[in-house]
Amino acid sequence: MKKMFLLCAAFFAAMVSVVGFGARAEASGRILVAYFSYQGHTANVAREIAAQTGGDLFEIKPSVPYPGYDECLDVAKAEKNNNARPGIDGRVENMADYDVVFVGYPIWWYDAPMIVLSFLESYDFSGKTVIPFATSGGSPIEESTDSVSASSAGAMVGEGLLINNTDEIAPWLSKLGYAK
Ligand SMILES: Cc1cc2nc3c(=O)[nH]c(=O)nc-3n(C[C@H](O)[C@H](O)[C@H](O)COP(=O)(O)O)c2cc1C
Repeated sequence: MKKMFLLCAAFFAAMVSVVGFGARAEASGRILVAYFSYQGHTANVAREIAAQTGGDLFEIKPSVPYPGYDECLDVAKAEKNNNARPGIDGRVENMADYDVVFVGYPIWWYDAPMIVLSFLESYDFSGKTVIPFATSGGSPIEESTDSVSASSAGAMVGEGLLINNTDEIAPWLSKLGYAK
């Protein structure tokens, strides 16, 4: 009787570990690559990250498109000074399905564009990992990752990377363990 019980317990433990492990392995594959891009550089990097991770892509599109470059500099600066949260066209309806969310953006005025904060503040990231990446004309990403962290409720925010050269993507993803 005791032997039978031990056998059943061992079988049950084995089933739990197989099912549990399977669920985790599948979950770690659910990757979203969300990005905002004004001139296309960040979009290019985002597409490459999605291709190399097998993740889904989501473009953060402003509900009011940004104007031409010179005017955009002023609009972006005013948004930052006013701590604005510009509107977004569309949303990720199935955010609950993702475990890892890469969030990409161009550095605007040494920081993340305010529309990226609008995006991040629209979801509950509890239990998810948010990984920032950015392109820029030379400014580093570090200052912007504080803003990303503050707006990503519940998330574990991973170390971000400034990617001005797409050759840096593959080694970075391998280091993080997200390469396909
Ligand atoms: C409104 C605005 C502000 C910018 N501010 C900065 C900045 O502070 N530092 C920097 O290095 N580049 C700055 N740039 C340049 C962009 O970060 C850079 O060109 C980026 O790669 C553009 O990405 P995108 O093509 O995805 O829009 C700025 C560009 C714009 C339009």
